[in-house]
Amino acid sequence: MRMYDLIKKKRDGNILSTEEINFFVDNYTNGNIPDYQMSALLMAIFLNKMDKKETLDLTSAMINSGDTVDLSSIKGIKVDKHSTGGVGDTTTLILGPMVAACDVPFVKMSGRGLGHTGGTLDKLESISNFRVALSKEEFINNANKINISICSQTANITPADKKFYALRDVTATVENLSLIASSIMSKKLAIKSDAIVLDVKVGSGAFMKSIDDSINLAKEMVEIGCGYGRETVAVVTNMDEPLGNAIGNALEVKEAIATLKGDGPEDLYELCLVLGSKLLVLAKRVSTEKEGRNLLIEVVNSGKAYSKLIELVKYQDGDISSIENPHLLPTAKYIIEVKSSKEGYVKALNAEEVGKCALILGAGRETLDSELDLAAGIVLNKKVDDKVFMGDVLAYIHSNDLEKVKIAEERLKELYIIGEKNPISKKLIYEEIS
Ligand code: URA
Ligand code: CA
Repeated sequence: MRMYDLIKKKRDGNILSTEEINFFVDNYTNGNIPDYQMSALLMAIFLNKMDKKETLDLTSAMINSGDTVDLSSIKGIKVDKHSTGGVGDTTTLILGPMVAACDVPFVKMSGRGLGHTGGTLDKLESISNFRVALSKEEFINNANKINISICSQTANITPADKKFYALRDVTATVENLSLIASSIMSKKLAIKSDAIVLDVKVGSGAFMKSIDDSINLAKEMVEIGCGYGRETVAVVTNMDEPLGNAIGNALEVKEAIATLKGDGPEDLYELCLVLGSKLLVLAKRVSTEKEGRNLLIEVVNSGKAYSKLIELVKYQDGDISSIENPHLLPTAKYIIEVKSSKEGYVKALNAEEVGKCALILGAGRETLDSELDLAAGIVLNKKVDDKVFMGDVLAYIHSNDLEKVKIAEERLKELYIIGEKNPISKKLIYEEIS
């Protein structure tokens, strides 16, 4: 087989066979195919697209390029959640304990934040001594004992995707449905949970900006998951403004604690109920989403979900006193109010730009080795559709650096678009796909 022939075949709009897809994935990963040929093929795929079988074959080839994580020694139907990435998305820290408190094993290998999007591992590390690097045995044992385990990826998962993604990034070939779906799903499917709920974000702070594109991406990912024999459902959700109120690592842990105690932001709690009830159905814990929702509300109201967070922290060596007394979590030296100079309604609050403000404050990373300020971030006091009077606090900036506060304050003031009430109120959930 020759790479030249595969490029020509795809260039002319033909369909690649399973063997041909395996050939270019294996040989590109091993360094036998040069970047210039792979770039040409990616562009041909980008322009002529892949059909469903090709997309599934590409996903399989990427999964097989590295290690997979066998979870069969965890008892029960194991569930996982994946978000395509957003701002202030504290969901995992709330959803995980809620689902586990319903006796369904929630197992997740999480990532770190990059750019304006946050990562669960960084948030967890704002709890002192919390250990995200678990051995495979610890990961499995904890899931068996307490139904929840969240760790970093230690195994060599989908090395092909790492190389492809880096090349796509510099050859303008990222925004193709098949390439995105196979990239995300290969990473998810390599970790062998039984059921997956995908939270596909759409809006200013998301990777996908249009609802139609997001729905198509969600459908494609659900098809791949199901085609691979795993129960997969997706929800397309709003990321036009940040989720919840807190953006920043320790701030989001505090928000998770409050939400698990029944005292969190409405949108964040609602999203956890929607995603969680789907997981409980997939895990056969309940037969309808309504029943799932009621059970989730029950474990929050009874304190079981909160106790599950404490258990998670204890089992991963974190300091539980900082969960019991959140003021012991990293706290910023300065908390500055950002006040409104207008009266009206919040019309928009661009999530990506708010994420960038948090990044300036040190809550996020510019590059993989930038240092984080775990205490830094933003707490929103007003969100889209809220009524605002002159002098009302729009948001609080948490920072250890007054220079950075100045920059963030100016930007935040500009990001709050205040005017007439929006004719249509915001939506949290756009579409559910199963
Ligand atoms: N996220 C991924 O992991 N892969 C893509 O291709 C796009 C977003
Ligand atoms: Ca949040």
